[in-house]
Parts: sequence; structure tokens; C-alpha cells
Amino acid sequence: MLQLERLSHWFEREDEEPLLALSDVSIDIDDREFVAIVGASGCGKSTLLRLIAGLIAPTVGRVVLNGRAVREPGPDVGLVFQHPTLLPWASAIDNVLFPLDMLGEIRSDSRARAAHLLSLVGLSGFETRRPAELSGGMQQRVAICRGLIRNPDVLLMDEPFGALDALTREEVGLQLLDLWTTQPKTIVFVTHSVSEAVMLADRVVVMSPRPGRIADIVPIPLPRPRSFDMEGDDVFKSCARRIRDRIFGHAPRPARRASEALS
Ligand SMILES: Nc1ncnc2c1ncn2[C@@H]1O[C@H](COP(=O)(O)OP(=O)(O)OP(=O)(O)O)[C@@H](O)[C@H]1O
Ligand SMILES: [Mg+2]
Repeated sequence: MLQLERLSHWFEREDEEPLLALSDVSIDIDDREFVAIVGASGCGKSTLLRLIAGLIAPTVGRVVLNGRAVREPGPDVGLVFQHPTLLPWASAIDNVLFPLDMLGEIRSDSRARAAHLLSLVGLSGFETRRPAELSGGMQQRVAICRGLIRNPDVLLMDEPFGALDALTREEVGLQLLDLWTTQPKTIVFVTHSVSEAVMLADRVVVMSPRPGRIADIVPIPLPRPRSFDMEGDDVFKSCARRIRDRIFGHAPRPARRASEALS
């Protein structure tokens, strides 16, 4: 459904060599699959999402969505970022409707659809509230609804819960899973949290440090529906261990002697 074919990406830089951010990344992602991506800061996770979204073009390789090469941003892909970036003067429901409004795509049933999405993430009754009247977790749920309003086939999420406290993060994560069950989508979800990746995903892609390559793809055979009780489960622990070993295996080794550290 979504194929990444041998993607490599160099960023051109002024007065410097181009920077190789991603190298030879290939993966086939199934329809309605939930894929998490983890890896060190700077390994190219956001770059990968921008390539999938068609916001930038790969230097080498291609992204194929539903049989067609992605060349520009399209309605098949929704995006959610680390910060909700809502319009401060607009109500929750108007923020959800914003992408349709901007593109002149508001139809007679759009408002009902936005209200329905908000109800699915527990925000019924908050439709007319402005962002300042909502908690961080609520704002991020509004941003998720905004990412879904055009009913995309693929939802790309770049550390969407990174700015939330641990409890809210778990709560919104489980809500995302509920939402994904009722509105099935292909989700590509970037996170720095190994346990969040294992809890949510069908497969976890582990990236090596820059230039980002796929170091491992770890299937998560935990049953659904998932719950945070599963963290004590042996399957959960062994998946998390494999992911951590992979991340650590690609981290720079600590210096063996002080002289090495200083050199
Ligand atoms: N527009 C750009 N021009 C030049 N270099 C860039 C550009 N965007 C990203 N980079 C570089 O490409 C590399 C990958 O960046 P990217 O933002 O994809 O990493 P990331 O894995 O998302 O990191 P983080 O976990 O910190 O968000 C980094 O070294 C970054 O400095
Ligand atoms: Mg990033």
C-alpha cells in the first residue's frame, strides 16, 4: 500500500558538503498497518516523514502510495506534529475544519464529521472552546482530528505526544488506538519512546544514527486491544529489549581509556 523504495536523501548546504540524512531506506507498509519509527535524534525520522508526505523529494529512490509515485503533498496523507500548532483564535471544531476551509473543501456534512471525530477522542462538549481553554493533551487530540479530517489513507505522526506528560501520553496513546480501530488508517508514528512504540505498533522500524538506515524491523506480536498492563508481559519485554539493543548497538561506543576520550 505504501512502498518506500531505496530512499536516500542529501540536504544541500551553503559553503559545506551536502549532508546525507537518509541512506537506502526500503520498506513495504500494509494498508491499515501501524508502524512506529525509533532512532537517535538527527537520524532522519522527520526527513523520512517529509518524504512520505511529498513535502520534499528524495535525492534517490521513490515513495509509492496506492500504486502511484508521490511527488507532492496530497489528500491521501494527513500529518500530526509534536506541537499541535492550532489557530489560537479559532474554536476546536474550526481548527479541525481548517484544512478543508483552506482548500475550499467544506461541504454540508463537514461540520458533523469534525464533531464526530472530536467525539471519538473524548472531546464532545469542547467543540466551541479555543485552544487556550484546552489542556495540552486535548489540544493534541484536536490536532489528530485535524490530521484525519480529509479522511487520508495514511496518517503521519512526528513525535505527536512528545510534549505531553507521561500520564496524558498513555491516555492519548490508547485513544489513538481506539480511533485507529474505528477509523482504520495506515499510521507511521515517530517516537523517542521504545515502550510507546511497542505498545502501539504492529512493527517497529529501528533507524541507525546519521545517515539514517534501517537497522532492524521488529514485529510486535502482542494481541489487540492493547493496554499498558502488557508492559509486564514477556513478549513486550523481549521486543523492547531487541529494539534497545539495536539502538545501543549503533550508538558510538564509550571510550575505553581516558586518553581515547580526550583525543
Ligand atoms: N533543511 C535541512 N537542511 C540541512 N540539513 C537538514 C535539513 N533538515 C534536516 N537536516 C539534517 O538532516 C538530519 C536528519 O534530520 P531530521 O530532522 O530528519 O532528524 P530526526 O531523526 O527527526 O531528529 P529528531 O529526533 O531530533 O527530531 C539532521 O542531521 C539534520 O540536521
Ligand atoms: Mg524529528
